Amino acid sequence: MPIIIKTENEIEKMRVAGKLAAEVLEMIEPHIVPGVTTDELNSICHDYIVNVQGTVPAPLNYRGFPKSICTSINHTVCHGIPCDKKLKVGDIINVDITIIKDGYHGDTSKMFCVGEVSPHAKRLIKITQEAMYLGIKQVKQGAALGDIGHAIQTYAEANRYSVVREFCGHGIGKNFHEDPHVLHYGKAGEGEILEAGMIITVEPMLNQGKRHVKVLSDGWTAVTKDHSLSAQWEHTVLVTEQGYEILTLRREETNLA
Ligand code: MF3
Ligand code: CO
Ligand code: CO
Repeated sequence: MPIIIKTENEIEKMRVAGKLAAEVLEMIEPHIVPGVTTDELNSICHDYIVNVQGTVPAPLNYRGFPKSICTSINHTVCHGIPCDKKLKVGDIINVDITIIKDGYHGDTSKMFCVGEVSPHAKRLIKITQEAMYLGIKQVKQGAALGDIGHAIQTYAEANRYSVVREFCGHGIGKNFHEDPHVLHYGKAGEGEILEAGMIITVEPMLNQGKRHVKVLSDGWTAVTKDHSLSAQWEHTVLVTEQGYEILTLRREETNLA
């Protein structure tokens, strides 16, 4: 499939979808406390998405995924399935939200800390977020996809973390996952050249230990093989002539755009 260049009308719809996805993350923040189950977080998000926003939770029934959001705790790398497990003080959790509005997808995730977490966990979370921003800063018409991966990998490895390779960012629009694959590792100048009007996600997963992952028997939950901590952040990003526009920016980030 060729990479789809969005029209101005589609870009406007993607801006709306991106903003709504970001708002779900803002809404759920105060609910991430010790004792809450990931099922409860799923229900709160589902109800907000469907009843308050009037949008559609894209994960629900996507290739058989059973819930409306992904919740990935500690050594879970991504695609954790909400369940009756309670969050406890010291946990770190990624909440990944994808909503559909007017036929277009907004996809974004962030890390939350449950109470006070270890300095090691905080550092992993911070470096992973910075790696995502460094990747996003490469985005510009004429840049290569490899520039994004190279920036992320270089920064992650300089900080003694590893980059997960089995999962990557993606084009996004009418479809949840479109071409291209956006690798979070690689060589500068390699891969497809970005054009204004493309919309991609940048969503690096960094591990404290080795990069290797395994998928559990539920067919979804990806965990680190060595059970080391993992963190992920994700934004949906529009390629422009001058650079980029983050479509899923939250209020807490407006000084970073
Ligand atoms: N939101 C994930 C991504 O960033 C995909 C989740 S697929 C699901 O691409 F089925 F688990 F929801
Ligand atoms: Co994504
Ligand atoms: Co996502």
